[in-house]
Amino acid sequence: MDEMLRLSAMPITREATCDTELLGHRIPKGTVVLLLSNGPSFLSPSFEIPESKRSKTSQATRVRQWNEAEDMRAYRPERWLARGEDGEVRFDATAGPQLAFGLGQRGCSGRRLAYTKMRIVLTLMLWEFELLAVPPSLSSYAAKDGLAHTPRQCFIRLGKVKY
Ligand code: HEM
Repeated sequence: MDEMLRLSAMPITREATCDTELLGHRIPKGTVVLLLSNGPSFLSPSFEIPESKRSKTSQATRVRQWNEAEDMRAYRPERWLARGEDGEVRFDATAGPQLAFGLGQRGCSGRRLAYTKMRIVLTLMLWEFELLAVPPSLSSYAAKDGLAHTPRQCFIRLGKVKY
């Protein structure tokens, strides 16, 4: 689920409530800052940023990076898995940057409900069907961004699971 969301996240916005500075750039009060959760660091390698340009809080609480040597646009759920000290492989929600639900006080308040609904829909679907490959001409991540990130191609090809 998180890998699906990582690949289809919407940019989020924040309006500066006072004059401030971001990575050495002056941001006047009232500026709308877009956080591109579908750009560098997420779907392509991050920009090189001198540590001294970061704020003290950013330096103290750095988010882990995705492995940027890999194809960051590829659907690869394994990037969210990590082996613990006990040898078990588990989902690691902090494996890399993810902003699909935003963050902080104005982060998505329907996040838990969204995960619950996605779990129910996916479980019911995978109980009955297997997901077969969709022809490449019908399976791009093309989307229309408005209030939501709406896919242009939302097709699945199902095979009935035989028990
Ligand atoms: C996969 C499903 C969903 C995604 C990806 C999603 C994503 C987002 C994002 C990116 C934001 C902006 C967060 C920010 O600016 O930091 C947001 C805000 C919000 N979402 Fe969702 N959302 C989803 C489902 C839901 C559901 C099911 C509900 C309610 C039942 C919901 C209610 C809200 C509300 C009320 C806000 C505004 C929060 C605020 O401004 O204080 N969302 N959502």
